[in-house]
Amino acid sequence: MAIPQTMHAAFIRATGGSDQIEYGELPTPRPGPTDVLVKMEASEANHVDLFVRSGAYKTHTPFPFVIGRDIVGTVAEKGPGVARFAVGDRVWCNSLGHHGRQGAWSEYAVVPGDRLYPLPDGVDAKAAAAVLHGVGTAHIGLVREARLAAGETLFIEGGGGAVGGAVIQMARDIGARVITSAGPKDEDWCRSLGAEIVLDYHRKDLYEQVRAAVPEGVDVWWDASGHNRFAECLPLLAMHARVLVMSGLKGSTPPTLPVGALYTHEITLHGFAISNASVSDLGAAAQTINRLLAAGKLRARIGATLRLAEAAKAHQMLESGQARGRIVLVP
Ligand SMILES: NC(=O)c1ccc[n+]([C@@H]2O[C@H](COP(=O)([O-])OP(=O)(O)OC[C@H]3O[C@@H](n4cnc5c(N)ncnc54)[C@H](OP(=O)(O)O)[C@@H]3O)[C@@H](O)[C@H]2O)c1
Repeated sequence: MAIPQTMHAAFIRATGGSDQIEYGELPTPRPGPTDVLVKMEASEANHVDLFVRSGAYKTHTPFPFVIGRDIVGTVAEKGPGVARFAVGDRVWCNSLGHHGRQGAWSEYAVVPGDRLYPLPDGVDAKAAAAVLHGVGTAHIGLVREARLAAGETLFIEGGGGAVGGAVIQMARDIGARVITSAGPKDEDWCRSLGAEIVLDYHRKDLYEQVRAAVPEGVDVWWDASGHNRFAECLPLLAMHARVLVMSGLKGSTPPTLPVGALYTHEITLHGFAISNASVSDLGAAAQTINRLLAAGKLRARIGATLRLAEAAKAHQMLESGQARGRIVLVP
């Protein structure tokens, strides 16, 4: 595969607003001894991309810094220390653009060999890109943190979103019962993913409805909506319940924590960010993700497909909540 000297990329020279995003030519990076050069086919926009670009999520971003987290593409070249993969193989990675690693929104990206996974045969690049961040997050939360078991009940706030949809699908795959809160326009979508009960999050009696649906108590409560209503939700939980705290970076009102409900029920709070996941956590998640992708069991709604040249627009659409469904990027 002939690799050009320069490539098109979306990048920033300083953290700040979406107006900091430039689209232009950069030298095509070369893989180190244990790296793989991937020719990009598709990526997606995630909230974390906005936080890294704005500087709200502090991480080392060597400038010019290519933005974007996930990549689906084809192996173009590999370092001599990479035993797996051959030129032309279809692959994916969901951990670029963090901790000094350049991002994914460029025609070519260098991926450390141990962060790269094969794309199962026949899987569409855009369909895969649209789920990678959400399902990676779902796996770390449900498996590593909550240790969700078959037969347990999960309540996910924000089932209509990218993480919410991934959590519903992965929890059902584990064999858990799923209850979710979502906007009315997302009710059918959440049900189609496997949620047994979908409650409109605007309802004043939302938490009474959850209590009525699960009088024995919820085993795992995951808030992907960023509200973290501990005061309302902790009293709804079962003994030894697990609470996943992973959204709300922009939240302005500090939540109230009802400590009595927490310790008398031996409830544990699990804060996590996929950005910190180890290579081994990500590899474990990738095995499940590939099994589900190959079986056609991971779905996401693609709301818009934009070119890399429209990277700033992609950030603005996600920031303003304009997009319904995932924003996928193609070269
Ligand atoms: N810590 C981590 O590792 C990690 C990883 C991925 C994402 N995140 C964070 O997780 C959050 C969700 O990410 P995402 O990609 O799923 O975002 P998203 O696709 O924008 O979804 C957010 C969902 O929350 C819904 N929502 C808003 N207010 C709600 C409420 N009061 N109750 C229930 N649902 C409500 C929204 O519905 P409407 O459309 O009706 O507003 C939307 O469907 C973000 O804050 C993101 O930064 C963290």
